Amino acid sequence: MRVYLETFGCQMNELDSELVRSNLHSLGYSFVDRPEEASVILFNTCSVREQAEQKAWSRIGIIGQRKKAGEKLILGVLGCMAERDGLDMLRRHPQVDILCGPGELDRLPHLLANMRSATDERPARTERVALAGNSSRRTATLEAAQDGLEALDLSRSFDPAHSLAGTASAYVRITRGCNKFCTYCVVPHTRGAEVHRPPDHIVDECKRLADQGVIEVTLLGQTVNHYRYTHGRALTVDGRELPQVGPGLAAFRPQDARVRAASGERTTTFADLLFRLHEEVPALRRIRFVTSYPRDFSDEALQVMAQCDRVCPYLHAPAQSGSDRILKLMNRGYTVSEYLEFVDRAFQIVPDLCLAGDFIVGFPTETDEDFEATCDLVRRVPFKNNFIFKYSPRPGTVAYDRIPDDVPDEVKRWRNNRLLALQSERSALVHAEWLGRTLPVFFQGTRSARRAPAAAAAGLVGATIEGRDPAPSFPAGPDSVGSWQAIGRTAGDLIVAVSMNSSADARALVGSIHTATMVGAEALLLRGRLDEQNSSVIGL
Ligand code: 5AD
Ligand code: SF4
Repeated sequence: MRVYLETFGCQMNELDSELVRSNLHSLGYSFVDRPEEASVILFNTCSVREQAEQKAWSRIGIIGQRKKAGEKLILGVLGCMAERDGLDMLRRHPQVDILCGPGELDRLPHLLANMRSATDERPARTERVALAGNSSRRTATLEAAQDGLEALDLSRSFDPAHSLAGTASAYVRITRGCNKFCTYCVVPHTRGAEVHRPPDHIVDECKRLADQGVIEVTLLGQTVNHYRYTHGRALTVDGRELPQVGPGLAAFRPQDARVRAASGERTTTFADLLFRLHEEVPALRRIRFVTSYPRDFSDEALQVMAQCDRVCPYLHAPAQSGSDRILKLMNRGYTVSEYLEFVDRAFQIVPDLCLAGDFIVGFPTETDEDFEATCDLVRRVPFKNNFIFKYSPRPGTVAYDRIPDDVPDEVKRWRNNRLLALQSERSALVHAEWLGRTLPVFFQGTRSARRAPAAAAAGLVGATIEGRDPAPSFPAGPDSVGSWQAIGRTAGDLIVAVSMNSSADARALVGSIHTATMVGAEALLLRGRLDEQNSSVIGL
């Protein structure tokens, strides 16, 4: 059967799609690039902002029209929208056959098999719906449920042609879910409580990926630095370790840590995990991680970043706002001065650090002064880039229920553009500090340097629209000597474009690390010149 799978939203979703693809592929399904060629259409959806949902709704509508016109198709909605809308989606959109939440993806083959074995009538809802919040949820324990999901991660096979993270680069999940309950965010509602994977599983997965040619892994978690695994707690009958529910914020209080250590409890912290991966998987040239929660980031983890040369000096640590009042309403759990303390400490311990973040503008009750405070934070902290979002009220969240969305859309838009422009200026300055440095660059794509992309025409520079990576749409600069560019990233995740004489020359670099000297700095990227002497050196 031919499957078309489209992914919306974040890196976690991209990884989920990769795992779904690998799982279905091993069961004999083949994948096609265009929905018209498929008999199974899967949308892996995102609910973080309304805009992402709208996009998915319009795709679902198109498939509905095709089904009405008589085409025999199976339509599955996976991910956060399935979990959030639940059975309501089936009632309002009868063209949807399968619903599968992000915590139930291991059950997708079963749901598809049920659909396929049905002759005339569609099978009962329970046969085609798997949601954490649904009554058809498996009756087994959380551990067993997590074990099924765990098997999905562990059974993956890396396919460079379909690796969404790019050639020779793979995502590896270390934590599922989130316990923070920021008041604007649906993630804790759709992905559930924080669950940590056993460190041995993560190390094994990374080793296998490295054996398959992967040289960069990005460890994924909603609050990745909260990774903590206590050994000897969650075991199977035969002594294998299982994923386990996170210990909660108390585990990060120093006094609590001392009590735990005194009791002889053996834990693997985030710092330990980074160190283990660095030591035990030497074939990985780059170990990255996202997203960091600006609180509870230990000195030990920063020290591992500083001392282990293959652990990348890059942090994505969203501040979300520069106003204490708004941070409190968001339930972020830190103040601006605590955020600044974290950033100062991080730059002190990891001198070559590159820092990125996220901001939400137009959160309910945000005043001009609050917004100015956010601008001040952007002026003060050397962010290399920021993903900037207009607040989007999400049903089911505390902010949606308790704080009216009172900032008019045009004010949100204005603040969004202002912050983008300010970040643009800041990005150019941060990039300029790297001029003259010779750095290893991991090349992951090419583009024609002559094409003038729409993003440049629209003046969208220095930051990104709705969290999308700017890499595919860089403007071509006047100094381009060749007509093709190879695009890569430094260890600190700075984007570098190198001009090449032909597309073949540019393509030859993709998938490997070469050193380049930084010769130009712009808001979106650095321009690099390939270091001919040293171009085969593979470093961080
Ligand atoms: N509205 C706007 N942005 C949001 N984010 C999360 N929830 C919302 C929302 N309701 C942003 C945050 C987060 C990023 C992944 O998405 O900045 O860090
Ligand atoms: Fe959402 Fe906050 Fe958790 Fe991030 S930390 S996933 S913003 S609830």
